[in-house]
Amino acid sequence: MSSKSPRDPLLSQIDQSKLPVHIAIIMDGNGRWAKKRHFGRIRGHREGVQAIRNVIKLCVKLAIPYLTLFAFSSENWNRPSEEVNALWNLLSEFLKKEMALLKKNHIRLNAIGRLQHIPDHAKQKIDWAMKETCSHTGLFFTLALNYGARDEIVDAVNQLLQISGSQPISVTEKMIRDHLYTRNMPDPDLLIRTSGEKRLSNFLLWQLSYSELVFTETLWPDFKDTDLAHAIIEYQKRHRRYGRV
Ligand code: IPE
Ligand code: IPE
Ligand code: MG
Repeated sequence: MSSKSPRDPLLSQIDQSKLPVHIAIIMDGNGRWAKKRHFGRIRGHREGVQAIRNVIKLCVKLAIPYLTLFAFSSENWNRPSEEVNALWNLLSEFLKKEMALLKKNHIRLNAIGRLQHIPDHAKQKIDWAMKETCSHTGLFFTLALNYGARDEIVDAVNQLLQISGSQPISVTEKMIRDHLYTRNMPDPDLLIRTSGEKRLSNFLLWQLSYSELVFTETLWPDFKDTDLAHAIIEYQKRHRRYGRV
């Protein structure tokens, strides 16, 4: 680690030879963060966006190849429309504002989910940001937007049925994997969920089969690079057995 920041003692506990290749995060707790401070929920989401920058920067510093963030679930449409609209506006703002950070660090933006159903302004920004960064070979940064793991599996099965036409087919694990939204990514090694909730909430159900799960009480807007470092250190203590002894 070349930098001399005061946090280096923590970073020096990270074993560079055992870094996760893919980190996925369920960013949860924006509403509770705001409630604790007597703010509206939208203020919590705004603060939550700031936390994303810290995480990206540490992933870049550690040369983590893949980072995937759950930003809007297929079930989040059930929130008040004012909150839903604010979330999409924040996404558009984030992409516009952080393009310089993405470019400076050669980050490639990717998005997974039923993107055809998200508001036009957000869809346009995502398409723009993906195009602007498509040649970058640094961190592969994926936002899960209008994402639901059950939708993803349904979409994969329907694609396979379409390909097969009237021919009966026998589906293999590889065929399903190759038709998921994540077909060009390895499965996450480490999943982090903030805010003390211990559930997957329809996130990457297929891909998380053998991931290490780390749950933290920290509310997402309070999540710092040090929290990510702690999660990585915890991950490195785990023994991944994959059914073996
Ligand atoms: C996570 O924070 C952000 C999204 C789901 C978009 P929440 O808004 O779920 O925050 P809590 O769970 O209500 O505290
Ligand atoms: C999961 O969080 C979705 C995102 C983080 C985008 P939720 O807050 O929506 O999940 P539940 O409702 O508590 O399961
Ligand atoms: Mg929540």
